[in-house]
Amino acid sequence: MSSASVGVLASKQSQTASIQAHLDEAIEGLLASLPAPEQVSADQRRGIIARYSAVLEGNFIYWMTGAYLAVGSDLARAKIVENLREEVRDCHPGMMRRFALAAHAIPTDADAQSVYRNLMNVRLFIGKLSPVPIVITMAFFEGFIQRFMPYLAELARRQGSNEMEYTDVHGVCDITHTQELFRALEAEMALANGSVATDEIFEGVTLLRTLIRNIVVND
Ligand SMILES: [Fe+2]
Repeated sequence: MSSASVGVLASKQSQTASIQAHLDEAIEGLLASLPAPEQVSADQRRGIIARYSAVLEGNFIYWMTGAYLAVGSDLARAKIVENLREEVRDCHPGMMRRFALAAHAIPTDADAQSVYRNLMNVRLFIGKLSPVPIVITMAFFEGFIQRFMPYLAELARRQGSNEMEYTDVHGVCDITHTQELFRALEAEMALANGSVATDEIFEGVTLLRTLIRNIVVND
């Protein structure tokens, strides 16, 4: 590798490190805003699980597929395919449904309606198929989901459920998994070669954060 390409790689790595720091901060902020489980009423508990299910069950694979269609590097494609294979092979939507069912929190029409607008905004963002912003958004989503699992499991327990396969599978701290995703991001940033506007980089993260707040606080 030439000294010039080493320099480019180093600058991409420092960019992804600052993106990762921004995502970590956004995730910390969301977790800090969660009401303590013992202060959440039974009705609110049901609502949080139901809205989470309404969003995740039918959209996670769809959005990850959007990311697959958007990216151009072999590295990013390989990482995303691995994720999709696991989702489909192990039937994660079915796992999600069993989790909601056992917690008496199957989404109702009203739950779907309450997340409709913010969900639509994320869908429209995914439809733009912008490689770098979409990979950043999915990294944020995966990072949040993983950290949110103990809280979601606690709400389900308080709903009288002991069906925890969904939260067990998604709560595993996988450092390699995250590192791979950020390597995929470096590859996509190298392909984009500076053509991504800074105000577009976190567009999906902002929309998804609003949707997640809608799920947990319903504001
Ligand atoms: Fe999953």
